[in-house]
Amino acid sequence: MSVTDEVKSRLDIVDVVSDYMPLRKSGTSLSGFCPFHPNTRTPAFVVFPNTQTWHCFGACSEGGDVFNFVMKKEGWDFRETLVYLAGKAGVDLAEHGSKSRVEQAYEDKLADILNAAADYFYQILLYAPQAEAARDYIISRGFNEETVSQYRLGFALDSWDASRNHFNMQGYGDDDLINTGLLTVNEEKGTRYDRFRNRLMIPIRDANGRMVGFGARTLDPEGIPKYLNSPQTAVFDKSRLLYGLDLARRHIREARQAIIVEGYMDVIQAWQAGFYNVVAQMGTALTADQLRLLKRYTKRFVLALDSDAAGTQATMRGLEVARETLDRESDVRFNARGLVKHEGRLQADIQIVSLPQGYDPDKIIKENPDHWVKLISGAKPVVTYVIDLATEDLDLGDGKAKTLAAQKVLPLINDVADPVEREHYRQLLARRLRIDERALLKIIIPPKRRRIAASQQAQPAASNPPPENTSASAVGLSTVIGGETIGTELRRADFLRQCLKHPTIVPMIDKMLVLNEQTMVEVEDFYKPDDRAIWRYVRSQINTWSIASEGDLWDSLEDEFLRDRIQTLLSLPDGPDLEVDRLPDTLTRSVLDWRLEHVKGLISEVKYLFSDEELSSNTEQLDLFAKELSDLTTQLLNINKARAAMTATGRRQTQEALGSI
Ligand code: UTP
Ligand code: MN
Repeated sequence: MSVTDEVKSRLDIVDVVSDYMPLRKSGTSLSGFCPFHPNTRTPAFVVFPNTQTWHCFGACSEGGDVFNFVMKKEGWDFRETLVYLAGKAGVDLAEHGSKSRVEQAYEDKLADILNAAADYFYQILLYAPQAEAARDYIISRGFNEETVSQYRLGFALDSWDASRNHFNMQGYGDDDLINTGLLTVNEEKGTRYDRFRNRLMIPIRDANGRMVGFGARTLDPEGIPKYLNSPQTAVFDKSRLLYGLDLARRHIREARQAIIVEGYMDVIQAWQAGFYNVVAQMGTALTADQLRLLKRYTKRFVLALDSDAAGTQATMRGLEVARETLDRESDVRFNARGLVKHEGRLQADIQIVSLPQGYDPDKIIKENPDHWVKLISGAKPVVTYVIDLATEDLDLGDGKAKTLAAQKVLPLINDVADPVEREHYRQLLARRLRIDERALLKIIIPPKRRRIAASQQAQPAASNPPPENTSASAVGLSTVIGGETIGTELRRADFLRQCLKHPTIVPMIDKMLVLNEQTMVEVEDFYKPDDRAIWRYVRSQINTWSIASEGDLWDSLEDEFLRDRIQTLLSLPDGPDLEVDRLPDTLTRSVLDWRLEHVKGLISEVKYLFSDEELSSNTEQLDLFAKELSDLTTQLLNINKARAAMTATGRRQTQEALGSI
């Protein structure tokens, strides 16, 4: 048999076509409105299950087999279509040959065993006296008989060998049972026993309805694990499956929307309440494979995740660590960046529903199905959802917090594939943070977290409370402004590091600043409490002239926290362009740069406040702002002047400064 024939023999054209359009039975064939030409009155498109062909009796008067249909519908060539249909049929193209057919036959056998097992557990649930508690449990969850039968729910007896004996009697050997995951082996003791004992059994099928495994819920409220799933087998791979898809796919196409929930029970409860387009990702982060699977039916997805998974903490953590956790993605149940990238790649539209604290879809639907409808209709695009989350409890007077919020959301916005959409989200974020969009553009996203960040987190931030910045606090502005970039934060770290390594350059930098009508480096030049502490320390030591080298400084250190931080700073790699004799020059410019950045941030904030409607009626405030703005502008000019002078005469001044010390 050729590959094409093999694929065809495994597929039913009715299923494939039904994935694209509704078909109605008429006699031995099925008909529908032709998807290839305008056809709304009399269905002209007919599928013949007996010959596995289709034909349009209307304007196109075309026809063919399942391959022609998919090629025409998707606009694919034969090869692409083969890849798609082979995947659907479970035919391995790469290894197609006699071996693969053996494998295929074996997988079929596993599916048969699993099917038999599902029936076996189902019968036990319905009739076995030992399943009384399980039946009560089903009732307590509110499931009716029809639902139990539809999902083939079952019960595994509280026994180590009941299933094994049953299937051995049916002629299935232990190896087969082990390979389906029904039987577990204890390697050490060499014993074999039933994997599923005293659990509610939930059969899991792939999109084509083929049995692949089980999820098994404990009946004990304290039972661990709550769900015991089939192990990874030839046919069971959680990351490529969506629970309930076999039943939901037609409805997903009809509703033009797939709702993705976390759990088995959510899907079942939704179905019972008449929401048929729901599938579950079974407790892991949504994978690209799963979305690709769904994309055959719709491009519009709504994620309705439990509040604990998509809740504030998890979400923001998920965002921050998205990159680092790619290899252990299953820990992160909600990965916003992953989703936005999927959206771009798959040209999909993913929305998020945030469920009330302590609720999952199961509970909501049971309590009040209307509430569920309302929640789903209030789904938000991923980026909007994250912006809302990042800004909901934000203190708009806290510039540092605003910067942090922006740094969290910006990477996500940058991942948005569509430029118009991207711009839309930038504006939205700027509005929420009440900063100018240009200030937002200047925020630099921290590169991969380094040791430096880790050590800062480990330190007690309150040990050195930052003093107020006078000019800003006069109008109630914060010391650190939304426009401040993390790039300048890194410069500060580098600055400190160099000063620690070469303490003698500090007086030179001071001198160059003063020569350019700027203040010396002050504690206020730093924002992080520990950086300020280090700077105070460096100053005190330099003032006693006792320090000549890194070693001296190190020896004189008593504060343990500072030791940690300083050690981290000193272990940062050297950047380029750092010959020692150019250091004072380079570092002075750093100081000017971050001061400039800071003042620009303040200006942008003041300008924003000007445009605030509430404030515009308060003339006293406005006067203050005007004064502030003019002060800041003067500062800006001065810093710029100093920078220009530095570039023109930097070399010379460095020499001078060096010479006079
Ligand atoms: P939940 O803990 O939210 O379970 O896990 P649930 O669906 O609400 O279950 P009930 O309502 O308490 O019965 C969500 C999903 O995560 C997977 C399952 O697929 C579950 O449906 N999960 C959870 C596991 O695979 N193992 C577990 O131990 C827990
Ligand atoms: Mn639940």
